[in-house]
Amino acid sequence: MSNAHLLAVAPQSAPEIHGEFARALIEGLSATPKTLPCKYFYDAEGSALFDRICALPEYYPTRTELGLLARHGAEIARLLGEEVALIEFGAGSLTKVGLLLDALAHPRAYVPIDISGDYLGAMAARLRAQRPALSVLPVVADFTKPLALPLLPEDVRRIGFFPGSTIGNMDGAEALAFLRKAAAMLKGGGLLIGVDLVKDPAILHAAYNDAARVTEAFNKNLLARANRELGAEFDLDAFAHYAFYNPHARRIEMHLMSLVPQRVRVAGHEIAFAQGETIHTEVSHKYTVEDFRALAQQAGFTPRQTWCDADKLFSIHWLEC
Ligand code: AVI
Repeated sequence: MSNAHLLAVAPQSAPEIHGEFARALIEGLSATPKTLPCKYFYDAEGSALFDRICALPEYYPTRTELGLLARHGAEIARLLGEEVALIEFGAGSLTKVGLLLDALAHPRAYVPIDISGDYLGAMAARLRAQRPALSVLPVVADFTKPLALPLLPEDVRRIGFFPGSTIGNMDGAEALAFLRKAAAMLKGGGLLIGVDLVKDPAILHAAYNDAARVTEAFNKNLLARANRELGAEFDLDAFAHYAFYNPHARRIEMHLMSLVPQRVRVAGHEIAFAQGETIHTEVSHKYTVEDFRALAQQAGFTPRQTWCDADKLFSIHWLEC
């Protein structure tokens, strides 16, 4: 990558930056190499695009994980136990948690934790309507940061649920730190977690470069969001979606690559891009079953059951703590 991508900010006139997204954007685009945290994908547009990704023929993780939950639900429920409080990290899909709640015997409470209060509120309302006997206790928080859980009765087991291989979007140190925190929070219970597996790179490449270009739109939504919310002036056609599997790091890397030399106004700053320069927008780590179990053990869990599909595309792990 070229060194020519200097941030051009007039120091004397640098305006004050308001809002977390604007700050992250300016900080990330001022770094070398340029980067943006993947959590900013998920505004309303980005969440809708992600739902479309989950239904794509090339994107195997969602349907494979759903298949595993449906197939092994009875065994999973037996291992998780009765009268549990299910704590979901990220208010994911109602379909996934619905499968689990159906399988569990008398779940006492469901605690979805999510950064988006709007999405969480809508999800909780739908779940309460579907399951009036279940106590639904949403928590608006970033689950990678310290947080307080609602008061739960002493006699319930705390069971964490972290599906979708969202742990893959953390780097190694972040994943270990998250698992350590989860083990402390869930002491006496455990964590049910979905983890995407190392596989033929052609399958991975197709999953992150789908023919309908929904993943491209999802990636470019970061720029579209900056235009919508901050009046930035990104030309979406001047950037390419670039996603590839890095076999040494065992991860998909997603980037937005500038197709031309250009300067873009963002929140009162001017950002310079060299031709071919990228903004690194996401990592999606893939694990072997053995490596993930070792990581979980290092974090303080006792890995118990692992379920995989016949093609070894995806895994679900039951970890006790
Ligand atoms: C949410 N996360 C697990 C997805 C993944 O596969 O890493 C996000 C995603 N990015 C591109 N496609 C899907």
